[in-house]
Amino acid sequence: PLPLREVVLFNIFYEIFTVCTSLVAEAPDGNLIHARNLDFGLFMGWDLKNRSWVITEKLKPLVVNIDFRRSNRTVFKSTNFAGYVGMLTGMRPHVFTLTMNERFSLNGGYIGILEWILGKRDGMWMSFLTRSVLENATSYTEAKKLLSDTKLLAPAYFILGGNQTGEACIITRSRTHNIYPLEIDLKQGRWYVLETNYDHWKKPLFLDDRRTPAMKCMNRITQANISLKTVYDVLSTKPVLNKLTTYTTLMDVSQGKLESFIRDCPNPCMPW
Ligand SMILES: *[C@@H]1O[C@H](CO)[C@@H](O)[C@H](O)[C@H]1NC(C)=O
Ligand SMILES: *[C@@H]1O[C@H](CO)[C@@H](O)[C@H](O)[C@H]1NC(C)=O
Ligand SMILES: *[C@@H]1O[C@H](CO)[C@@H](O)[C@H](O)[C@H]1NC(C)=O
Ligand SMILES: *[C@@H]1O[C@H](CO)[C@@H](O)[C@H](O)[C@H]1NC(C)=O
Ligand SMILES: *[C@@H]1O[C@H](CO)[C@@H](O)[C@H](O)[C@H]1NC(C)=O
Repeated sequence: PLPLREVVLFNIFYEIFTVCTSLVAEAPDGNLIHARNLDFGLFMGWDLKNRSWVITEKLKPLVVNIDFRRSNRTVFKSTNFAGYVGMLTGMRPHVFTLTMNERFSLNGGYIGILEWILGKRDGMWMSFLTRSVLENATSYTEAKKLLSDTKLLAPAYFILGGNQTGEACIITRSRTHNIYPLEIDLKQGRWYVLETNYDHWKKPLFLDDRRTPAMKCMNRITQANISLKTVYDVLSTKPVLNKLTTYTTLMDVSQGKLESFIRDCPNPCMPW
């Protein structure tokens, strides 16, 4: 296991060096499927011999699914790293599903966290907000409002799914608000929303385009054939799956099901 000093550092870096792919898709019967890859460990040491990221490999054994209970009843479920208190992936069974992706931004991002460490900035840690929403929000609408309006330390993307048709959105956060909401809209043919680490109204960085291949896969599958299985296949397509990918989580809100898989990307495979 990681020593304490590394765990603390890791809590901070975790907010900074996480790249990810998250999506919510609506099946023809209105059922919502929410899935994500968590890619972690960028720039934190490349192992030449193993062709792998040192931290990514260290984290894989720490992936756990947690069932949070109150009065002996499940309040929410989540996929976590043992020892880490924030939440990046979780579900309130039968109510909503939630994932968070890093939104890179120099001012407000790294600088925001530095300023917070120096005591010069207020706002909530992003993955504490997700925890608080999972613990305390009781509907999609309430979760959406909290995720859109709570003041944050740094920018982030929240990907939220509800429990009925049309309830799925990407919340692109500045420190203060939801900049440009995007929701599922069946009338316009948008039966899924998908987020990596770039604003959905802009092109992804050419060196790191996981969005285009993931969307190609989704479009090829079509809404008629969407299921946990086909979504898993999308998240297993390179470079959506890459050397940073630590786990894949699949969630079916109406069945209250959350499952996760520790991932390996066989060579040849992109470092990110
Ligand atoms: C690298 O590979 C060696 C041999 O296969 C293994 O013992 C070691 O645990 C690996 N290190 C990491 C960080 O995966
Ligand atoms: C909690 O629930 C489980 C089954 O869901 C049951 O086996 C256990 O006895 C319960 N514990 C308490 C303290 O009620
Ligand atoms: C959830 O709400 C309760 C009661 O208001 C509060 O004590 C608790 O701290 C909240 N949880 C989080 C994670 O904010
Ligand atoms: C969907 O969520 C709402 C709360 O927003 C809840 O009242 C309702 O029972 C849920 N529907 C199902 C089918 O679980
Ligand atoms: C769904 O998948 C099956 C088997 O892969 C295929 O035969 C069928 O054409 C697909 N349906 C649609 C609508 O794409």
